[in-house]
Amino acid sequence: MLAKTFSGLENVLKEELLQIGASDVEPVVRGVKFTGTKETLYKANFCCRTALRVLKFIGEYKVHSQNDLYQSVYNIDWSEIFDINQTFAINSTVNSEAFNNSMFVSLKTKDAIVDQFRTKFKKRPSVNPDDPDIRINVHASSDTLTVSLDSSGESLHKRGYRVGQNEASMSEVLAAGILKIAGWKGQCDFYDTMCGSGTIPVEAALIARNIPPGMFRKEFAFEKWKDFDSDLFEEIYNEDYEVPFEHKIYASDISSISIKVSEKNAKSAGVLKDIEFSTADFATLKPKSEKGLLIINPPYGERMRERQVEPLYKMIGDALKSGFSGFKAWVFSSSEDGFKNIGLRPSRKIKLYNGPLECSFRHYELYDGSKKEKKQYGNRRTNQGEGFKRRSPDNNFKPRRKY
Ligand SMILES: C[S@@+](CC[C@H](N)C(=O)[O-])C[C@H]1O[C@@H](n2cnc3c(N)ncnc32)[C@H](O)[C@@H]1O
Repeated sequence: MLAKTFSGLENVLKEELLQIGASDVEPVVRGVKFTGTKETLYKANFCCRTALRVLKFIGEYKVHSQNDLYQSVYNIDWSEIFDINQTFAINSTVNSEAFNNSMFVSLKTKDAIVDQFRTKFKKRPSVNPDDPDIRINVHASSDTLTVSLDSSGESLHKRGYRVGQNEASMSEVLAAGILKIAGWKGQCDFYDTMCGSGTIPVEAALIARNIPPGMFRKEFAFEKWKDFDSDLFEEIYNEDYEVPFEHKIYASDISSISIKVSEKNAKSAGVLKDIEFSTADFATLKPKSEKGLLIINPPYGERMRERQVEPLYKMIGDALKSGFSGFKAWVFSSSEDGFKNIGLRPSRKIKLYNGPLECSFRHYELYDGSKKEKKQYGNRRTNQGEGFKRRSPDNNFKPRRKY
């Protein structure tokens, strides 16, 4: 199988896959290859926060001609995989001398599938490019053709809880990835003082409570496969995941509209009780905790005029130095000029991407006056089981269906 992710998050995803019991886990560019059972495949979709989609390989073939391609696809028993009355779509990527046109590869693959059904059943399944039941991925690289099934469907960053966003909203997968890089497990108070639509605090709450990201999805593509094991998926869905979270997440933004959107998203994800929202200018905000973890994603990119970058990032540096000593702070931005103006030396710099934009995720240790604050965060689950209630109906959590 292959789980895809954003560049820079491969090792985070590798750890997640190991946690769900995957074997032969091998990071590749923007993905992680692994082997496992049907349970591993379902869990990779349901539990992995940094996976964008999960492909299941069904065949790898040496191909040198159009005919080889057609024959290789024709030889797969497609009626084992889907029914004639289901729709399908093909997504091709090519990086090969023999095949340099992805449309052509898709067309040949479609012909082989349709011809096989026609020969066997005198009928053919329909193609639905927009909302297919079965998604087939074909990758041609040098003389190798890889055919796989997309088990996810819509990208897994679409968790299903988001009811609103602003134009600069971060991908949920990226937010979960940076939280994991920063070592977030729910072990202390957490701050996002430029929270926008609340992606980072909501993902932080889901991690802290161990709520799987797939809990809110309406569907996964594997549910339409012929071999779908609904009992197994029901078991995975109903596992007792949630753990107590004894700290608080503080989320603020200068824009009251953003805070309203954030609150709606948190409510929809069932984590409103864990997050305290406020409209506040970071320049004057004082934290309620003596120490904790802070992650911010300040404005950056083309939309910001150059003359706005310098004072904004200078303000961020000043606010961190004056108000957040004792904290571990991380800043995610694409603005090198911005980082320069923070005026603090990062102890780590990690290259990541937000879409096509190269970004950096930088860590600042904000020692308190004595510079002795070097203790690592302790284990969060000190009070496990005590005073802990499962999600109650009044916190507005709505599971997608009864499983
Ligand atoms: C890139 S967006 C954050 C996006 C967010 N991570 C998300 O996923 O929705 C930057 C945010 O910083 C906020 N902001 C700008 N200046 C601020 C300030 N002085 N204090 C607090 N928030 C500020 C903006 O209102 C905007 O929502």
